[in-house]
Amino acid sequence: MNDSDVNIRPFAGQADIQFAASMTRNEKWYGETETELITYYRRDKSRCLIAESEGQKVGFCIATAYQSQGLIGMLIVSPAFRKQGIGTSLVREGVKFLKGKGVQTICLDSVSNAIPFFKPLGFREICRSLRFFGEIEPGTSPEISEIRPQDLNSIFEIDKKVFGQDRTYFLQQRLKNHPNLAFKLSLDGDIMAYLFGREGIGGWVEAGPFVSLIPCDTAMPLLQTLQERIGFCPFSIGVLETQKEMILQLVQAGLKPNPDSPVRMKSAGDITPGSDPCCLAIGAPAKG
Ligand SMILES: CC(C)(COP(=O)(O)OP(=O)(O)OC[C@H]1O[C@@H](n2cnc3c(N)ncnc32)[C@H](O)[C@@H]1OP(=O)(O)O)[C@@H](O)C(=O)NCCC(=O)NCCS
Repeated sequence: MNDSDVNIRPFAGQADIQFAASMTRNEKWYGETETELITYYRRDKSRCLIAESEGQKVGFCIATAYQSQGLIGMLIVSPAFRKQGIGTSLVREGVKFLKGKGVQTICLDSVSNAIPFFKPLGFREICRSLRFFGEIEPGTSPEISEIRPQDLNSIFEIDKKVFGQDRTYFLQQRLKNHPNLAFKLSLDGDIMAYLFGREGIGGWVEAGPFVSLIPCDTAMPLLQTLQERIGFCPFSIGVLETQKEMILQLVQAGLKPNPDSPVRMKSAGDITPGSDPCCLAIGAPAKG
């Protein structure tokens, strides 16, 4: 298939969102729901790209531009149309969009099968982006409470410092969409750690972003609080391989790493969003 046979365009409304949601369901990406897609669409629909072949929707991807850094995520081509260059066209268009926004470094989490696909597009492997799954001992602590809208300004300030980019919009939306899964840990009235969760298809729960200014063993009660809230339901959490202490805490708490976790890849630059030791867990592959 030639590039000219594929038309890449921005999402144009609800039908495109529903198409993308059906693709994530087929791939069993249970955290990437229609609600999540709407969040991306409302922030900037030009970042949500659909591939069409002869008028038929055959793939999509999402490009997230922060300030100096950006991410590409949720890249899916319909199985019947794979290996015809459509995935390549979508990534190229996403990269063009991000560069147009002034982004210098582009990251993505690639499933292991797709690493050979991303390499010729200029991405190199940085580290594994591990996925843990399971249940931990539920619990809570007096320092922990639900995040309320009036806490957000303090959280935004911390988040900008440790994540290095402005995730304000996504954190706001996460609280709006999943207010009962967002917790903070405060010491002497100051927020020292926070955890946002989300519920996906069929009750699938994902934990993260998880940020802590205190050692991660002392922030772990936030995860126990999430577990207490969701009952006897396992959850998933994504942690960069470089967060050694966090990994140790999760393993000790009883979570199991997925042996086929994705790999974080990067296009250029020295900094990887979310690599600060305070960023204990990622928010979502397409948001960092
Ligand atoms: C990964 C994916 C988007 C690639 O889309 P695509 O349209 O098939 O990709 P292209 O046709 O542009 O592939 C370009 C090259 O990568 C290779 N390639 C594509 N997918 C590959 C895979 N899974 N493993 C190895 N090589 C792959 C192709 O063979 C092609 O190489 P060639 O030009 O030498 O023949 C598609 O396989 C897909 O939707 N997979 C399921 C969802 C997924 O894993 N997304 C990526 C998450 S990070």
